[in-house]
Amino acid sequence: MTHYFITGASAGIGAALAKKLNKDKHHVSAVARRADRLAALQKATDYFCGYQADVRDASAMAAAVDASFKTNGPIDVAILNAGIYVPQDGCQISPSIYAEHMDVNYMGVVNGLASIVPQMLAARGGHIVIISSVAGWRGLPKAAAYGPTKAALISLAESLYFDLTPKNIKIQIMCPGFVDTEATAVNDFDMPDLLSAETAADHIIAGMQRDVFSHAFPKSFTRKLKFLKYLPDRLYFALVSKQTGAGS
Ligand SMILES: NC(=O)c1ccc[n+]([C@@H]2O[C@H](COP(=O)([O-])OP(=O)(O)OC[C@H]3O[C@@H](n4cnc5c(N)ncnc54)[C@H](OP(=O)(O)O)[C@@H]3O)[C@@H](O)[C@H]2O)c1
Repeated sequence: MTHYFITGASAGIGAALAKKLNKDKHHVSAVARRADRLAALQKATDYFCGYQADVRDASAMAAAVDASFKTNGPIDVAILNAGIYVPQDGCQISPSIYAEHMDVNYMGVVNGLASIVPQMLAARGGHIVIISSVAGWRGLPKAAAYGPTKAALISLAESLYFDLTPKNIKIQIMCPGFVDTEATAVNDFDMPDLLSAETAADHIIAGMQRDVFSHAFPKSFTRKLKFLKYLPDRLYFALVSKQTGAGS
């Protein structure tokens, strides 16, 4: 039985991951703010332990990690998934929205790592999975507050790779395309190759079993974005504007 620690497990991709891993009889320690959602998931399975915490609160995260250790032993796999997304019009910059994205999406991961890494070092091994996004690859329309947090996570994971890999801690970054969740329900545009949260969870679980640092999915969408990623700026802006209607 593996002990998984998942942040943002009350909804969307995190909840789908928790349900699938529980079904395979793995222990899941889950963090989110909505206690009622966690309680409902806990009721539905024997292997789920919910911890109400805000990932922005470093001491609350430390307490959740500590409590999960006491209940289920050392964390084998941490999936740092909690995140928010609010589409932004770049003509109206609201610093508080940008700061909130950084606090939840980036510092929320750092707060988790601060307690999880020492535990994995003491256990002489572990596995950390950080959920980024293809929106971290290059700037996309409406993603001015969100995209930079996902780019920061990719850079963070790359830096940590050098320190953690020699300590037998596997670190991976996952870059999903569009997934149908509460987060993307606010989008007023067509989302190509949209996946269900359950299918996204399957991709993440498959990616975790692979010997790769980064895993992007679905390939039908991410191959196109990878191509765009390496284009010269002028071509990139022209093609993305044409595809999305941005700037018209
Ligand atoms: N959906 C997509 O298309 C997509 C694409 C690429 C990447 N991603 C990434 O995948 C991850 C999950 O996204 P999702 O689409 O599943 O979103 P979601 O359905 O909105 O779920 C977000 C989860 O994060 C939790 N959360 C948010 N703020 C939190 C906080 N301050 N403290 C603790 N938990 C918090 C929420 O729980 P509470 O509200 O109960 O706290 C919820 O469980 C995010 O990192 C997102 O950026 C999503």
